[in-house]
Amino acid sequence: MTSYKELGLVNTREMFAKAVKGGYAIPAFNFNTMEQMQAIVQAAVETKSPVIMQVSKGARNYANGTILRYMAQGAVEYAKELGCPNPQIVLHLDHGDSFELCKECIDNGFSSVMFDGSALPYEENIAITKKVVEYAHKYDVTVEAELGVLAGVEDEVSAAESHYTRPEEVEDFSKRSGCDSLAISIGTSHGAYKFTPEQCTRDPKTGKLVPPPLAFDILHEIEKRIPGFPIVLHGSSSVPQDEVDTINKYGGKLPDAVGIPEEQLREASKSAVCKINIDSDSRLAMTAAIRKHLAENPSHFDPRQYLKPARENMKKMYIHKIVNVLGSDNKL
Ligand code: G3H
Ligand code: 13P
Ligand code: ZN
Repeated sequence: MTSYKELGLVNTREMFAKAVKGGYAIPAFNFNTMEQMQAIVQAAVETKSPVIMQVSKGARNYANGTILRYMAQGAVEYAKELGCPNPQIVLHLDHGDSFELCKECIDNGFSSVMFDGSALPYEENIAITKKVVEYAHKYDVTVEAELGVLAGVEDEVSAAESHYTRPEEVEDFSKRSGCDSLAISIGTSHGAYKFTPEQCTRDPKTGKLVPPPLAFDILHEIEKRIPGFPIVLHGSSSVPQDEVDTINKYGGKLPDAVGIPEEQLREASKSAVCKINIDSDSRLAMTAAIRKHLAENPSHFDPRQYLKPARENMKKMYIHKIVNVLGSDNKL
């Protein structure tokens, strides 16, 4: 058993309480590579922001769970080296799909886990979440649960009411499961294609897709029913058009990629939404920089030559999210 406390990591309890009270959200950035980890830590230190570094099952398969855990431990030491004496870094399991996986992460230095039972029947979701919570709380690890299914790109967003979190269930669910935070579905979704062109309108001036708005009425209803309870938004990349354009300009093919407008995420951050998950925007920032670099420097083959601008571009994006969208800067 390795406790996250030995690694200098923190759980989410205090940072979420402060974020809800202070009207800002904590960035939850996925990482799979050393460059992402470095960019996240540099951005968090420079902006004096708490940060959640999250590991998906896919990341564990790609990079190996043990390596990622040691990288998170390295992230704490790196932050100190960069001049931040008390970094607030959470190592979080993203979309854990079983009690066993959550337990394995808790036993191996994670300070927070998500059990995603959103596709399960309601009672089963409560039962497994509760089992994870009972185990996690013994070690002061915090638990994120999910209620409501994130709309897929194939769904009719305007008619996806049944996928949205049902406000009338959140009080019962949070009480009975004992979870520390709750991921809800109000119209966000994973990936770089969050809406089909048919679900969007087109800006007559630019011809660009304008996605349908998030269901703020549902968010506000949820907040009324569980006042102050920490809410999480998954699928919150904005899919910046300039990165998509760069990728497409240098040989990529991402037609009609569309994300969540940042003004809406800024608005959500001021509510009880205290954790905002961003992965795709990091992938886009990295890919755009690499494609551009290699197109402009066809003789380069040392990975450091193209990974350096990729890391810089991701760092710029992380800083932008922290300062201009989530408002978590200067909170250490
Ligand atoms: O929730 C999804 C995250 O973006 C992680 O994606 O499973 O491809 O690592 P992944
Ligand atoms: P994006 O695909 O919008 O970045 O969402 C990431 C996420 O929700 C990770 O859990
Ligand atoms: Zn997610």
